Amino acid sequence: NLPSRVILKEVGPRDGLQHEKRSVSIANKVTWINMLSDSGLRYIECSSFVSSSWIPALSDAEEVFKQIKRHPDAIYCALVPNVKGMERALASNVDELSVFISASGTHNRKNINKSKQETYPVLDKVIKGSLAEKKRVRGYISMVFGCPYEGEIAIDEVKKICEKLFHLGVYEISLGDTIGIAHPKQVERLLTELKNYFGSLDNFALHFHDTRGLGIANSLVGLQAGIQTFDGSLGGLGGCPYAKGASGNIATEDLAFMLEQMGIATFIQPEALMNAAIFIEKVLNHNLPSHQLNLYKKG
Ligand code: HMG
Ligand code: MG
Repeated sequence: NLPSRVILKEVGPRDGLQHEKRSVSIANKVTWINMLSDSGLRYIECSSFVSSSWIPALSDAEEVFKQIKRHPDAIYCALVPNVKGMERALASNVDELSVFISASGTHNRKNINKSKQETYPVLDKVIKGSLAEKKRVRGYISMVFGCPYEGEIAIDEVKKICEKLFHLGVYEISLGDTIGIAHPKQVERLLTELKNYFGSLDNFALHFHDTRGLGIANSLVGLQAGIQTFDGSLGGLGGCPYAKGASGNIATEDLAFMLEQMGIATFIQPEALMNAAIFIEKVLNHNLPSHQLNLYKKG
């Protein structure tokens, strides 16, 4: 019972670049994002409007949004942590905003300097303010499958956070395996519980990091459970600087390859996607972990 098409949401320009030591020029970011939309990706998280002292690599979010060439069918999104971030994002005319909270209180504190309870009123303001401007809001939950500081996370806690986020008005929740610790059985267990509780998985996405090489196995289980939206990062770039041991997201091109081979449409042009991966690898000047990219480079 697999879907006939899947939506791949590209988070590389945000999740991928937030962790990079080498600073990427605005011009290179803009070129890369344009290449991403040219490859057929229709949802791109371009940056975040967070504190520049916390994430220096993305302090140029305004300029990036100003300069990108907007494909009429693509959604250009940004991550925001608070009302100030929302105001900056709205002033930059982002199409859609993402908010985030961690299932682990310790990680939440390290990432945004707040407890979970202190975070909800902030999210409430951000979501209300965005919806008032007719912008949809997506919600991320980090550390859904385990945390380097707190260990395993109870499924009931994840359910509770999902319920709160939907109640606050997000249209979709992206379940984050921030440190790439999830295994297929665990993914199946969580998704079965969420499906039973919420009635369907239509409003859920999966966001895997590939730290232990299980991203593609976990994605397959998600697909079989009914998930139709996956986050990926081109080349497998990425990681959260405030989560010990976090490495890159699952590579968008590896996900796209699996899906297309299985007869599931992504509407992405593989050649154009590969060119975009080669471009950002050159800019960053270090090898990226994606299987497809490395195969391609070997000719
Ligand atoms: P704080 O220090 O508690 O903030 O940080 P504050 O409210 O006390 O403000 C301190 C200063 O920051 C003030 O400036 C504010 O104006 C400024 P000052 O008066 O000192 O000159 N400030 C801002 N500046 C620009 N944009 C803003 C903003 N807000 C405050 N939006 C804060 C709290 C939330 C700001 C900070 O902790 C922060 O920016 N954290 C973001 C960290 C981050 O981006 N982490 C990675 C993303 S999450 C992730 O990777 C997981 C995910 O991928 C899913 C997964 O993988 O699981 C989503
Ligand atoms: Mg992430």
